Amino acid sequence: MSNTEWIEINRDALTGDLETRVQALLGEAFPEGSSTNGDYYAFHGVPDRILIAREARQVVGHLAVYRRQVKMGDEVLEIGMIGAVAVAPDHRRRGHCRLLLQRAHDDLRARSIPFSILFAFEPRVYLSSGYRLMQNETHFLDVDGAWKTFVYRGSMFAELTERPWPDRMLELAGGVV
Ligand SMILES: CC(C)(COP(=O)(O)OP(=O)(O)OC[C@H]1O[C@@H](n2cnc3c(N)ncnc32)[C@H](O)[C@@H]1OP(=O)(O)O)[C@@H](O)C(=O)NCCC(=O)NCCS
Repeated sequence: MSNTEWIEINRDALTGDLETRVQALLGEAFPEGSSTNGDYYAFHGVPDRILIAREARQVVGHLAVYRRQVKMGDEVLEIGMIGAVAVAPDHRRRGHCRLLLQRAHDDLRARSIPFSILFAFEPRVYLSSGYRLMQNETHFLDVDGAWKTFVYRGSMFAELTERPWPDRMLELAGGVV
């Protein structure tokens, strides 16, 4: 933990050995959905910011921050959407995920973005970072190309400012990550 280096980078700047190691971590964590020529981002969309935890040359943690214009009720607003959260198996349960989320939230707050959302496999992981399960219906583009509306299982929100999460339908204007 003491030797962890935290990197914040844009997709364009992620190249070479660091990129190879990031793609390997993502391929291992998400074997079902990572290959478009081994480029996780080509498949899931290019994030606005990429957060990486590194120890020596080993990439031990990764998180992708997307900023998305959504509609909630009549209001158009920009929110953060977190994806590709992965920690190397031998580095789990040491708070890396929590620290990556904290940095992502700082980044979003600096842009006055009031909410962050994510779609969790294991919602329990995100409770201590302030996420709660959504009760809202979400309108989103599914992987099968169809637009769907339902309370997405594992969808969670975090309030980053004073503003409470609106109890309105969330129109995602795209897919989930
Ligand atoms: C999920 C994952 C990112 C967690 O990373 P991590 O660095 O081990 O998480 P942290 O150590 O920061 O733990 C955060 C919290 O989640 C809890 N937690 C971690 N893994 C958990 C698990 N598998 N089941 C239940 N709770 C878990 C921790 O106890 C901690 O709780 P606390 O803050 O209330 O004490 C990591 O296990 C992983 O990469 N899994 C495979 C990929 C994946 O499923 N990604 C998530 C996509 S939604």
